[in-house]
Amino acid sequence: MSHLDASPNAAAFYARRGYEPAGDVKSNNSLPMSKRLDERTSATTPVLSRDDARRVYDRIGSLQDTQAFYEDRATSILVEHGDFTTAHRVLEFGCGTGRFAARLLSERLPADASYRALDLSPTMVQLARTKLQSFAPRAEVVLTDGAAPADEPTASRDRFVSNFVLDLLAEDDIVAVVREAHRILVPGGLLCVSSLAVGAGGLSRLVSSTWSRLHARNPALTGGCRPLELLDWLPSSQWRIRHHARLTPFGVPSAVVVAEPV
Ligand SMILES: C[S@@+](CC[C@H](N)C(=O)[O-])C[C@H]1O[C@@H](n2cnc3c(N)ncnc32)[C@H](O)[C@@H]1O
Repeated sequence: MSHLDASPNAAAFYARRGYEPAGDVKSNNSLPMSKRLDERTSATTPVLSRDDARRVYDRIGSLQDTQAFYEDRATSILVEHGDFTTAHRVLEFGCGTGRFAARLLSERLPADASYRALDLSPTMVQLARTKLQSFAPRAEVVLTDGAAPADEPTASRDRFVSNFVLDLLAEDDIVAVVREAHRILVPGGLLCVSSLAVGAGGLSRLVSSTWSRLHARNPALTGGCRPLELLDWLPSSQWRIRHHARLTPFGVPSAVVVAEPV
């Protein structure tokens, strides 16, 4: 398989572990779960390896912000439902250029809140450091190797944010990131995530199936991202869903979840 990784899907992961995705209960997706799983991914779905993701995002750099035309609708819902005015210690996984961090720091977070942003792309880290310079030292940007943040202290953060990143990870990595988020969040803390989603009908379904086909041909063509059902990755035994929204800005199906660890 050369530079591409492959791994089993959420259903298989969780069936093996004996628990249900929160999505079975909470999702308002009109498609049956079996259909969503068929379209979303299969055991042979290739994803970008971490090295390839680093290369792709080093190349994309500040062009990442051209995705704002559809991403901002989703992240605005997170801003609204993530209760950030009461947050004090935020961790972001895959911060890109630091645009979301800058928005939270300037518009929402209390003046004493700290922000730790992680990314595996040196170019993105440099862009984010420049963007967040005026918020230093309470805002820091850390270059990682792309692994789930296992070194972050337990119960150290009250928000764990990740926008349009889970949808480009290998499935084992999605599970690992969600598991670490659960460990890192304090009781009452919030997981705030957004991603591409599987379209439910009409234009959004056409966009998501085209996106999936492009991704299957070569994940680099879509920046590694493919439609994902976020709720499928949040076991109901571990997460209480506080807010879930599906939206299709400009026909691009996206989803937002705010969840609390149980
Ligand atoms: C689609 S971009 C989203 C960036 C930003 N969150 C936004 O919404 O604009 C994905 C980002 O995740 C980063 N990334 C990809 N894989 C990662 C990993 N395994 N660990 C940390 N960052 C990762 C990329 O470098 C890139 O900055």
